[in-house]
Amino acid sequence: VIKDRIPKGYRIPEIDNKIRKARCKEEAKLLSDAKRAGVKTPVLYDVNLEDKAITMEEIEGVMLKEVIDDDLAFRLGGEISKLHSSDIIHGDITTSNILFSDGKLVFIDFGLGRYSQLKEDKAVDLLVLKKSLQSIDYNLALRYFDLVLKGYGDESILNAIHDIESRGRYTH
Ligand SMILES: Nc1ncnc2c1ncn2[C@@H]1O[C@H](COP(=O)(O)OP(=O)(O)O)[C@@H](O)[C@H]1O
Ligand SMILES: [Mg+2]
Repeated sequence: VIKDRIPKGYRIPEIDNKIRKARCKEEAKLLSDAKRAGVKTPVLYDVNLEDKAITMEEIEGVMLKEVIDDDLAFRLGGEISKLHSSDIIHGDITTSNILFSDGKLVFIDFGLGRYSQLKEDKAVDLLVLKKSLQSIDYNLALRYFDLVLKGYGDESILNAIHDIESRGRYTH
């Protein structure tokens, strides 16, 4: 699979070029750091900063939203916890950006990812997932999200999540 970033016409070309190059580099780094953290991600074959293109392994599988159940929700929490233990914030954990292949959860699309040690950033990462689950089914989402947090296994994240939810927004 080749993922490239097309120019944004509303930006000054020189700046647009720099931004796309930096994001491309960052996405490739996050992809390989995630693998090092023990999470399954596509194998990175090539990064072409001139074309702003990442070439990676094609994962044959289905989107998590098509197959999610209690067990997968719990396992998903464990995988996210591995990312967060390495201070990797995925940035867009949705049930379309996680594939299910060969009995495993595979994380793709680190295009909005970054690094952070902050509990609050990790909580926001999880809340993006909660929102995505709610687009499948509101009541199931609450159960799945509880299981995700069980699998995540760090009770101290709960306070951060409740703080953000009580502020009623995901960013600060
Ligand atoms: N390595 C891959 N293997 C299989 N399918 C992929 C892979 N990377 C991306 N895709 C498919 O392409 C879609 C878009 O890629 P993604 O990285 O999520 O880009 P975007 O930032 O545009 O959302 C994904 O939702 C997925 O269906
Ligand atoms: Mg995507």
